[in-house]
Amino acid sequence: MEQREEAAETFRIALDGVSLRRGHREVFRDLSCGFRAGEISVILGGSGAGKSTLLRVIGGLTRPDSGAVRVAGRDITRLSERDMFTVRDGIGMLFQGGALLDSLTIFDNVALPLREHTELSEREIHAAVARRLTAVGLPETEGLFPRQLSGGMNRRAALARAVVNDPEIVLCDEPFSGLDPLNVRRIESLLMDLNRRLGLTLLVTSHHLASSLRMADRIVFLRRGGALVGTPEALLRSADPEVVAFLSAESEAGSR
Ligand SMILES: Nc1ncnc2c1ncn2[C@@H]1O[C@H](COP(=O)(O)OP(=O)(O)OP(=O)(O)O)[C@@H](O)[C@H]1O
Ligand SMILES: [Mg+2]
Repeated sequence: MEQREEAAETFRIALDGVSLRRGHREVFRDLSCGFRAGEISVILGGSGAGKSTLLRVIGGLTRPDSGAVRVAGRDITRLSERDMFTVRDGIGMLFQGGALLDSLTIFDNVALPLREHTELSEREIHAAVARRLTAVGLPETEGLFPRQLSGGMNRRAALARAVVNDPEIVLCDEPFSGLDPLNVRRIESLLMDLNRRLGLTLLVTSHHLASSLRMADRIVFLRRGGALVGTPEALLRSADPEVVAFLSAESEAGSR
């Protein structure tokens, strides 16, 4: 695997010299890495490596202390809150835990980004929500509440919400955690299908090694001292001690 192999222009999303502290912890120090348009990039790394933080930085929810974060050529670290809101409009997010709001129906949960970011009529919102719920295999769940669905169904509804306003970029934080193998496969094929059919640029963080290797065009491995970037094959061949330790720990966990 390589540490930064290409010019920044080839990337849809590029971090350049990003540093971020949280209390005494240096989460990123001079981190540079890029994500290409239309690709599925899977972000791997141990717990606390900064995977969720990286997605929050790219989604404009956390501002780094220094460095640039370019999304489609614009450095989002310099934008006002208002301009940031517009950028976020083009980014769908599935948060760790995939939380839907308990007090809202599935319909209202999925409709949320449309209500926040568009001027669509209720009728149009209804059509868009129904189309997405059908796409994730949850037709006719509009009137139900999250507690009435299983964990895997909730995750799929959260995915419907993440893509309901046709974003070009979708950030998925641990979309497979806590799911059984069947639901892992379901979410995996939904994500791959979205990527292939709509050309979505997908960034996925995961602890699930097998699905990461199946899905990823590119793996971004976060570790102390920066990011290693390469194909899944390059990851498996890597001699980097942190990668080797991660792979053996994850494959042990997977075989349990
Ligand atoms: N708001 C915060 N306040 C203090 N520390 C934080 C905050 N957010 C993140 N951190 C720290 O930043 C580091 C990276 O956290 P992050 O959640 O990004 O890791 P992760 O790779 O997503 O881990 P996991 O695999 O467990 O989800 C951790 O050491 C965490 O304690
Ligand atoms: Mg995380």
